[in-house]
Amino acid sequence: MSDILTHVEAGVMTITLNRPERKNSITSAMYGAMADALHGAAGDAAVRVVVLQGHETIFSAGNDIGDFLNKPPAGRDSPVFRFLRAIATFPKPLVAAVCGPAVGVGTTMLFHCDLVYAGDNAAFSMPFVNLGLCPEAASSLLVPRMLGYHRAAEALLLGEPFMAEAALEVGLVNRVLPPTETNSVAQSIARKLAAKPISSLIETKRLMKQGQQDQVLAQMDEEGASFARMLGEPAAKEAFGAFMEKRKPDFSKL
Ligand code: COA
Repeated sequence: MSDILTHVEAGVMTITLNRPERKNSITSAMYGAMADALHGAAGDAAVRVVVLQGHETIFSAGNDIGDFLNKPPAGRDSPVFRFLRAIATFPKPLVAAVCGPAVGVGTTMLFHCDLVYAGDNAAFSMPFVNLGLCPEAASSLLVPRMLGYHRAAEALLLGEPFMAEAALEVGLVNRVLPPTETNSVAQSIARKLAAKPISSLIETKRLMKQGQQDQVLAQMDEEGASFARMLGEPAAKEAFGAFMEKRKPDFSKL
């Protein structure tokens, strides 16, 4: 599918979010394509590393709101949850290149990447509360763990964006670069990784992650159940209705 491009070269699979006219917002078909690409990459000996990237001006505006309303995720096997489990359990190194806005899942997916390179225009945000929703992708567990509780509360309760330098300071990104160089730096780091022994990469990643893996998957399930329920409740309906009608939401009566 053209909204998600995949390309394998020199042991590196590059997955590109390619829907710039809709700010790389992600439809269920795109989640399905990314989940399939990750499953394929996990089992393909020709792929040793995966790079996830967007464009120089936009990483992702998160879920495609219209698609989400028309096809709300129905259960654990829905494309969005398949993608989230695939990224959380992906056994080989995952490198992300992020420029411009990274909204909602555009930010939360990064907590499952091993190395993250950001353009100096990157703006991370997790505005779930502002949408009448709750965190997903185990971000309610991983964000407080990485940022500390109070900064996590700022990011998740206020839902305000934070920029690349702040992300660097808390350890969410490895390096901040000019946007024109971000994808190519991520690519050269991925090639460096791809030249290393794959068995050591996989075992090292497994050992680093094993202490929290079960907890991450359990948190994702619990968040997923709450998120799916809250999508049908009045606060989310008001928030999404306001987005579609290009007005400010009014939660005062809810
Ligand atoms: N779902 C569906 N369409 C989206 C979208 C989304 N998440 N994000 C942006 N778009 C659409 C806009 O509606 C707009 O469509 P139009 O040209 O028909 O009006 C187009 O993409 C361009 O977006 P625009 O808002 O004009 O771009 P911008 O550069 O001013 O702002 C963002 C970019 C990402 C900051 C802004 O689009 C945004 O905040 N999007 C919503 C993000 C969000 O709430 N995501 C969470 C979903 S759970």
